[in-house]
Amino acid sequence: MLFDLRPKTSRHELYGREEELEALHRLSRTEWIAILGRRMTGKTSLLKTFLAEVNGIYVNLSGVRSIRGLVEELMKKLKHVDLSLSLGPVRARWTRLAEDVFARLEGRIIGLDEAQDLPANYALRLFKKVWDEHRLTIIFTGSMMGLLHRLLEPGHDSPLYGRKPATIVLRPFTRGVAIGFLERGFDELSCPYREAELEEAVDSLGGYPGWLTYYGNLRCVRGMTHGEALENVYREARKILVAELERFLEARRNKALYVRLLRLLPAGWSELERALQVNRKVLRDALRSLERAMIVEKVGRTYTIPDPLMRRAVQELGEAGPYL
Ligand SMILES: Nc1ncnc2c1ncn2[C@@H]1O[C@H](COP(=O)(O)OP(=O)(O)OP(=O)(O)O)[C@@H](O)[C@H]1O
Ligand SMILES: [Mg+2]
Repeated sequence: MLFDLRPKTSRHELYGREEELEALHRLSRTEWIAILGRRMTGKTSLLKTFLAEVNGIYVNLSGVRSIRGLVEELMKKLKHVDLSLSLGPVRARWTRLAEDVFARLEGRIIGLDEAQDLPANYALRLFKKVWDEHRLTIIFTGSMMGLLHRLLEPGHDSPLYGRKPATIVLRPFTRGVAIGFLERGFDELSCPYREAELEEAVDSLGGYPGWLTYYGNLRCVRGMTHGEALENVYREARKILVAELERFLEARRNKALYVRLLRLLPAGWSELERALQVNRKVLRDALRSLERAMIVEKVGRTYTIPDPLMRRAVQELGEAGPYL
């Protein structure tokens, strides 16, 4: 059922991602892969569906910040693998144990979902050893911070320099695909709708399968009206997107500048320079990190916030937040 809120796990439930699935099959023969995408683009669904087709192992690392945590999560998936856990809790030893676990997974494909919070220095060294010494494939997903950032933009002193994973960027559905997605979901549940409602839903939520699924579920499963469903999705999305934004801002010294910049978008370079009165380097760095975090996109000469829900959240963050 398309409007099921859990991540999808099979090809016939996974809408509009045939190309990405094929890319995973093709690349995983030789490469390690990173699946990137904004919130609710369906990263976990794509990963789980693919892993189900190749007898892979899915590991959820959400909130896992240590190699010990990684080992514990791997062990949960591998109850039959006999490993002595008598080593002390010293981080280097956990790294050795992690390598041991990976060694027993030769030939398998392992999906590490939400891998961004692993301690990057230890994890990079561990993954280099695994890459050099064992034939197994790892697929990472997560936001472009922490470990993921270090994997994909390695400094020349990084252990994985020159061994960058291939990337698959999961984009929101185009308008046409998003409307097709909603139509199929409504039809599956014989749930009545007007075409104009679906268009309004896609215009205000964007082509994010996660938000569209939630909207469809609220209407067809929980019985809300179009307006109620839209409002509820927005309220839920705002919480998640503001938290994302705050997490992004946490690491920056000049938070207020970022918020002012975001609130000026869409805008071109010279307009931003004039309005913000900062030097070129500061502005260039701010725009670059916003682009890397996939919050901002440059279309032609204009910087924009492509996600309509993020646009709304940014305006409200400026009004309510402690940043201005
Ligand atoms: N291609 C798709 N076809 C059908 N449903 C999908 C698809 N992609 C995502 N969904 C649905 O959207 C919701 C979010 O999907 P998922 O958890 O896979 O996204 P995500 O990108 O991993 O989200 P997050 O950023 O929160 O980790 C789920 O309800 C899932 O069932
Ligand atoms: Mg996910």
